[in-house]
Amino acid sequence: MSVNSLSFDVIIIGSGAAGLGLALSLPEHLNVAILSKLSMSEGSTYYAQGGISAVLDEVDTLDSHRRDTIKAGVGLCHEDIVELVVSKGKESIKWLMENNVEFSVDKNLRSKNKLHLTKEGGHSHRRVVHANDSTGKAVQTALSDQVVTRANIKIFEHHNVIDLATTSDTNSSEKKIVGCYVLDTKKDIVFSMQAPCITLATGGASKVYLYTSNPDVSTGDGIAMAWRAGCRVANMEFMQFHPTCLIHPEAKSFLISEAVRGEGGLLLRPDGTRFMPSFDNRAELAPRDIVARAIDHEMKRLGIPSVFLDISHRTAKFTKSHFPMLNERCLEFGFDMTKEPLPVVPAAHYTCGGVITDSNGLTDIAGLYAIGETAFTGLHGANRMASNSILECLVFAKQCSAHISDFFKTQPKKSNIKAWDDSQVINSDEAIVVSHNWAELQQFMWDYVGIVRTTKRLQRAKDRISLLKKEIDDYYGNFHVTSDFLELRNLVTAAELIVDSALLRKESRGLHFTLDFPNKDELFKKDTILKP
Ligand code: FAD
Ligand code: SIN
Repeated sequence: MSVNSLSFDVIIIGSGAAGLGLALSLPEHLNVAILSKLSMSEGSTYYAQGGISAVLDEVDTLDSHRRDTIKAGVGLCHEDIVELVVSKGKESIKWLMENNVEFSVDKNLRSKNKLHLTKEGGHSHRRVVHANDSTGKAVQTALSDQVVTRANIKIFEHHNVIDLATTSDTNSSEKKIVGCYVLDTKKDIVFSMQAPCITLATGGASKVYLYTSNPDVSTGDGIAMAWRAGCRVANMEFMQFHPTCLIHPEAKSFLISEAVRGEGGLLLRPDGTRFMPSFDNRAELAPRDIVARAIDHEMKRLGIPSVFLDISHRTAKFTKSHFPMLNERCLEFGFDMTKEPLPVVPAAHYTCGGVITDSNGLTDIAGLYAIGETAFTGLHGANRMASNSILECLVFAKQCSAHISDFFKTQPKKSNIKAWDDSQVINSDEAIVVSHNWAELQQFMWDYVGIVRTTKRLQRAKDRISLLKKEIDDYYGNFHVTSDFLELRNLVTAAELIVDSALLRKESRGLHFTLDFPNKDELFKKDTILKP
């Protein structure tokens, strides 16, 4: 069943740090809709642990943050964007505090704000502001509490956006956004929404892999929708694997924050020896691509199911006060991190590539923006440095808000959107096809497109993706859509973009490592840009 279209000034798809940051920054005379697939809080933001990087320590400098980011990004960071993001660290933290986010403080510090700063991989200073080990929960909860008080913002939870609608301006060849089609998953109805400005803030695509630190909503929807609508996408080969997720049958790749290593945690082989010093002189605090690859190497070399992360040499009081959530969750899984090493493995964590945008979050389509993990801004290069993501969400939320405000000064006209037509489709009795294809995709992406790649394995993955795409297209044309099906459709598109990008990069750089081209090559010191 379909219902009539709803009309807004701005539609924000996604309610994490990027989406809520934008909603709260837009002028209150604009009529704004926020959509999320599940409840408003369910996204990567809520689960962020380590914190948000910002230069606040008097011995730290913006230049040092800039240099660390560029070094972690292995030659591919866009330096103007790094400059922009790094320079806004302090004001982003101030904005969060004004919006009631409470960060950890240490009364013994000399600094005026007393904010405790932790350390993570790639950072040469303590510069990670945090709320113990549950920074994301503090940010998400405070921002969610704010948006519900705004009269100009209407929130649509449990609404899954299916696709974007665009039109060509009659006076130019420019493509413009006009709206989107939405599945209300509680009522099982599809309807359209109209707006001259839409922002994709839909998070990443890590669910394309069998093992991931991400929540279920990270299915690359924004990237796939923008691609189908005609936007370019960049650097999808750079999928980040977080080095340390707890291995336990019920833990579902539960993340053990890099801040544990920042506060002295060591990576050990089963015999208790360290291995990171022989891979990088920054040892456990090398950037993630290096640590994840070193763990993968040791696991394969020794034929072991995990390595170990050990912070038991610090006092129990220290560990419990810095990592209260991690300590509690590990105890639930039967591990006492204050006394014993934790078994850990890498898992898919962050999508460095995404929808290409300019410094205002604007994509190739007029009125369509992308911000947060969905976007490719050029900040992260070939490997994101820890705790630079939420900062990027907040900075681009502000940039995007300023651009949208200017856009509305010209009072744009709303264009009509075609009604959703599902008159030719029936209910499926073949839900098994969706779950089977989903499991197959995640397994072969893990096996063939993981931390270490080869051209042959990538080609194998590409062949399987072509088969899945055909089945999905048939299904889409014949059956009513469900959330599971829509997510699978988007994941297959994300997988195709990852594999195609990886096949184009005939070198190893940052997060992309292939045995066929194990070295860096100056010829490939450029972004991988795919055009629809
Ligand atoms: P998200 O917070 O993922 O939100 C995505 C939103 O989009 C959700 O509301 C979802 O429902 C919605 N959505 C998606 N598709 C659709 C659709 N089709 N229709 C409607 N709505 C849709 N980064 C840091 O900087 N510091 C950290 O300490 C840190 N720790 C992390 C720990 C974990 C366990 C994880 C998973 C990530 C961590 N990251 C960290 C990364 C960071 O949390 C994310 O990159 C960032 O929060 C992404 O924010 P976002 O707003 O772009 O997306
Ligand atoms: C972590 O706490 O290790 C995650 C930090 C990040 O992904 O930026």
